[in-house]
Amino acid sequence: MSEKRHPIPSHIRACARVDARRRAEWLDQLRNDPDGFWRREARRLDWIRDFTRSDESSFDEAAFQIRWFADGVLNVAANCVDRHLPERAERAAIIWEGDNPEESRVITYRMLHEEVCRFANVLKANGIRKGDRVTLYLPMIPEAAYAMLACARIGAIHSVVFAGFSADSLASRIRDCDSRLVVTADEGLRGGRKVPLKQSVDEALPHCPSVETVLVVARTGNPVPMTPGRDRWYAAERALVSADCPSEPMGAEDPLFILYTSGSTGTPKGVLHTTGGYLLWAAMTHDVVFDYRPGEVYWCTADIGWVTGHSYVVYGPLANGATTLMFEGVPSYPDSSRFWQVCDKWNVAIFYTAPTALRALMREGDGPVAATSRQSLRILGSVGEPINPEAWEWFHRVVGEGRCPIVDTWWQTETGGIMIAPLPGATDLKPGSATLPFFGVEPLLVDGEGRELTGATEGNLCIARSWPGQMRTVYGDHERFFQTYFSTFPGRYFTGDGARRDEDGYYWITGRVDDVINVSGHRMGTAEVESALVAHAKIAEAAVVGMPHPIKGQGIYAYVTLNVGEEGSETLREDIVRWVRREIGPIATPDIVQFAPGLPKTRSGKIMRRILRKIAEGDTDSLGDISTLADPSVVERLIADSRLLT
Ligand code: WTA
Repeated sequence: MSEKRHPIPSHIRACARVDARRRAEWLDQLRNDPDGFWRREARRLDWIRDFTRSDESSFDEAAFQIRWFADGVLNVAANCVDRHLPERAERAAIIWEGDNPEESRVITYRMLHEEVCRFANVLKANGIRKGDRVTLYLPMIPEAAYAMLACARIGAIHSVVFAGFSADSLASRIRDCDSRLVVTADEGLRGGRKVPLKQSVDEALPHCPSVETVLVVARTGNPVPMTPGRDRWYAAERALVSADCPSEPMGAEDPLFILYTSGSTGTPKGVLHTTGGYLLWAAMTHDVVFDYRPGEVYWCTADIGWVTGHSYVVYGPLANGATTLMFEGVPSYPDSSRFWQVCDKWNVAIFYTAPTALRALMREGDGPVAATSRQSLRILGSVGEPINPEAWEWFHRVVGEGRCPIVDTWWQTETGGIMIAPLPGATDLKPGSATLPFFGVEPLLVDGEGRELTGATEGNLCIARSWPGQMRTVYGDHERFFQTYFSTFPGRYFTGDGARRDEDGYYWITGRVDDVINVSGHRMGTAEVESALVAHAKIAEAAVVGMPHPIKGQGIYAYVTLNVGEEGSETLREDIVRWVRREIGPIATPDIVQFAPGLPKTRSGKIMRRILRKIAEGDTDSLGDISTLADPSVVERLIADSRLLT
């Protein structure tokens, strides 16, 4: 592991919002007067009614609750749009860059205000009220941001479903939260290819009795079937409503959104975030970690279907009155210079992306980068998975020409925003380390028995106390929330990640320690892929593990036992891969399907995943104790067959 240290560049230190001295002052205040600290920070937002208490949270079972600023009243859309109008009405709120480099739009705060109001009025005209759930299944178009903010404006709870998920995945997410309305587009457009979104909605809805209305945004304009009484064109609805819509006063702990994410067991969980704490966390981390300066163009490449898109394309930057760039396309279209061309076209100062994209671009060599100027870049960021030092160095040296600090930000859907990351003006960087906790974050490492480990060490990453951006519950299943995150190590939030802490107190995230894999920065539950596999008519049993993958970080390795009488073949393999893509979506595409005559099980019938992981990693010399297996000979066979595949 690289231990090279990159000191803070002097041009960054000289004018950073938070330098080492201010950081020390803030940490001091957090220790001595946390309530005063949060009161001051909460002034970043406009409150309709001030709160009297900040943190009232406890992770202990008997007193378990997570509550911040609970009696405060505010509105997220008013904070992200209206309050900027007096000073910044004509400033770009959203720069939209289309998949096609010829297509773009600049949306000022004034325009954003009108669009959000109109969208909110369309929702209201279609019967949506405070507390109703609205599912958004949209491509990266400005309407996605309008729809999110429109829900926030009227107090409806949005649930964004990534447009790459299948009709089945969409249906189960709509059913789980009983959405009354779905917003979609005729088609999406990515890398020159059309994504049939409306078609997926049509396939999903027969299984979703709660949905009364579908609003369809025309993106490509190609004809799609419309179901009378249910489907409406958004443009037609928009023309009928007023451009003004009051914003609903919301309690700080009223729900803002649900976002489904994969865990180690069962179906995806509806992570619920609330209004005050979430918005403060998104705004504060966006401001401080990216050292955002008014007027700068900030670009986060994440899709709004993921939490990074929620917090760092929409809510954080807009709460701060920033200019956020929203990109519809992919890094390789029309060619692999696209990211950098967009940086030049719009003078991007802050650029936030995922290691998987960097690794894919690195493979194309330095040429496509060198063909562009990138002089506007000031800060670079990384998120989603551990960044390997090679990718870090390439990002730093080639993309940033050595002058831009890289903020490697560790966080999760559950945390609402960034938790461990350097501050550009206050933290020396070490390639591959997310460095130090953000203000108010208290990480700790524990061993398998929950004993806290001190000093330089490695263990399970937990968080000792609540922070404002923390998720509040699993939608509809509070018990599952407690069980998943607070029961493994009582009194602590367990992240599911492992980490190492070095002599300087820097954290190095080592990856998931549960049955979640990280494919191209996307979380995938192995259990979800397994249940898709066993739904295939010819499959009796399946076990899925992660394997190292040079671009994706982790790939999906599936061991499949066929029904008696079925024969494994290349055609069947392809059919299985297609099946999983259809069941879940292309992000769940298995990289390897191995037909296994049997799976390694203990005598009590438990699959020994540890062994399957080792075989998938090609690390078969250290399988450990296999004597407890019901039939140790399966292992030999699996190893021999796996060599033929990898
Ligand atoms: C991983 C994405 C190492 C981690 C924001 C976490 C990271 C999971 C980093 C959450 C990072 C995210 N370094 N690992 N900088 N950022 N992860 O919920 O395993 O989609 O638990 O949130 O991604 O993924 P999620």
